[in-house]
Amino acid sequence: MNAFFTVVRTVVALAILGGAAAVAFIYSGLYDVSATTPDIPIVAWAVHAVSEASVAARLGANKVPSGLDKPETIKAGGRLFIENCAVCHGAPEVAPTPIAQGLNPSPPNLFAATRKPDEQENFQFIKYGVKMTAMPGFGKSLDDDHVWQTVAFLNKLPGMSKSDYAGLTAAPAPSAN
Ligand code: HEC
Repeated sequence: MNAFFTVVRTVVALAILGGAAAVAFIYSGLYDVSATTPDIPIVAWAVHAVSEASVAARLGANKVPSGLDKPETIKAGGRLFIENCAVCHGAPEVAPTPIAQGLNPSPPNLFAATRKPDEQENFQFIKYGVKMTAMPGFGKSLDDDHVWQTVAFLNKLPGMSKSDYAGLTAAPAPSAN
């Protein structure tokens, strides 16, 4: 019985010490939160792994509607992209904005020719965003139809040329009257 209490006392003492060390670390200022300092590799890995698992676990609810390949849907998405996304995610042959350059983690290059857009995943990112990164959740400002239009445009981004980008993001011609 004595041995049992010794074990319990040791475990409790270690838990208290661990908790105190964690609190001391939090308030010490040792951890550098500056965006300009790269993450320690283990922190970068852990945050990324948590994020990937979180997104993957939530994809089932995103039922892809039909018609995402309609030209007018893609163009509607293009206009939403230039208004809401280009400041961080850029555009073909355009230098990254000061905002994009300063973000940590950096916004992924959605125009990379080798990228394979995943519609359910893109919907998840756009509607809900990613905590503790600059990726905003647009669910507060765009309804699901608008988010899917943006997804439709993202399908076309890999390898998109500058002129296609200009055409797909242009404001609609004013109606003659
Ligand atoms: C203020 C900057 C900012 C804006 C505006 C923004 N994003 Fe992002 N986005 C990010 C960052 C940073 C990440 C990386 C998040 C991470 O590391 O988990 C990201 C991630 C993503 C991803 C996930 C890509 C991947 O490979 O992991 C998609 C898709 C995406 N954004 C699409 C969009 C779309 C579409 C819009 C506009 C409706 C938009 N973003 C607006 C900064 C932004």
